[in-house]
Amino acid sequence: MREIRFDRFGSPDVLTLHTDAPVPEPAPDEVLVRVAFAGLNPLDFKIRDGSSGRAEDLELPAGTGREMAGTVIGAGSDLDEAELGSRGLTVGTRVFGMRAPGDGRGVAAEVIAISADDLAPIPGEIPDEDLPRWAGLSLVGLTAIATVRDTAGIEEGETVLIHGGAGGVGQLLIPMVLEAGATTVLATGRSANAERIRELGAIPIAYDTTDWVQEVQHLTDGRGVDVVLDTHYHSTFLPSLDQLAGGGRIVALPSLADLSPALQRGIEARIPAIVPGRDRLDRLAQGIRAGRYPLEVSEVLPMDEIAQAHHRLAEGHTRGKLVLEISG
Ligand SMILES: NC(=O)c1ccc[n+]([C@@H]2O[C@H](COP(=O)([O-])OP(=O)(O)OC[C@H]3O[C@@H](n4cnc5c(N)ncnc54)[C@H](OP(=O)(O)O)[C@@H]3O)[C@@H](O)[C@H]2O)c1
Repeated sequence: MREIRFDRFGSPDVLTLHTDAPVPEPAPDEVLVRVAFAGLNPLDFKIRDGSSGRAEDLELPAGTGREMAGTVIGAGSDLDEAELGSRGLTVGTRVFGMRAPGDGRGVAAEVIAISADDLAPIPGEIPDEDLPRWAGLSLVGLTAIATVRDTAGIEEGETVLIHGGAGGVGQLLIPMVLEAGATTVLATGRSANAERIRELGAIPIAYDTTDWVQEVQHLTDGRGVDVVLDTHYHSTFLPSLDQLAGGGRIVALPSLADLSPALQRGIEARIPAIVPGRDRLDRLAQGIRAGRYPLEVSEVLPMDEIAQAHHRLAEGHTRGKLVLEISG
């Protein structure tokens, strides 16, 4: 079968498409999935270049990709038909999901073995043309839930500033922050993405054509915001500390973000951690189905363009999601 692997950390060129990879054997609690599409994330290039904490214990050669959508084609010995049925994961069911944080195996392969706990069924009425969106949903969706609910604890009536509102996580943060009761949501992005940010329900701030700090001050009548959710971090984290109203808090998304400038000033600052789980995947499925989380796929690339896809991810201007076609 076809599978993308890399045998050393480095540039995107270390990613190689193999055509003779062995089909994996599922462990007793695992399901075998024929992958249709794999979602791509900045985490993928950080693991590939070795800069992610996740790269530390990774055995090479390794696969790439964390999340996908596909079809159940088999299961391990603990998962008989009745057990699969009780989970809604019988053979032939379309599923989506992501590897749990502790599972370093990739998903960019025609067939993968993955824990049944890390999958959820895709509702039957969803057309196959929509599968790329489901492939790109779980990692950003679980991140947005962890950010809004577990980490920021957004409350009714708060004013929230999101940096990177048109990115993968940003496109789910906006609707989830509104669902949590925020009354005003400001979101930065390039002017080309302003309309998308507005469609999602936030007030766009075009950081490439205006001074975003002045805009935040203007839009909040000089009060500042209660919460900053910073998916960009690099050039936004430090100036954001001065945009917080008294008692405000900041959440930085990159796992290796340095929070100390905030903590030294007594500002509450945190980094979210994904909590996997079927209940959360089901909640994402319901949100997409009901039209509440209109996550956008900006591009679907073939497997042999994985190196270009990683270059694109690293540029940091992905709109919504980049997705890889595996056997869709
Ligand atoms: N802690 C965790 O568990 C966790 C989980 C998932 C992701 N993450 C991290 O979260 C970050 C975001 O992930 P993602 O998937 O959303 O990335 P992404 O899809 O690449 O989106 C990043 C967004 O940042 C925006 N951006 C770039 N420069 C900016 C600037 N100067 N000011 C404001 N916005 C800017 C871009 O929008 P424009 O094109 O409009 O500039 C882009 O849409 C990554 O570092 C990722 O590794 C952490």
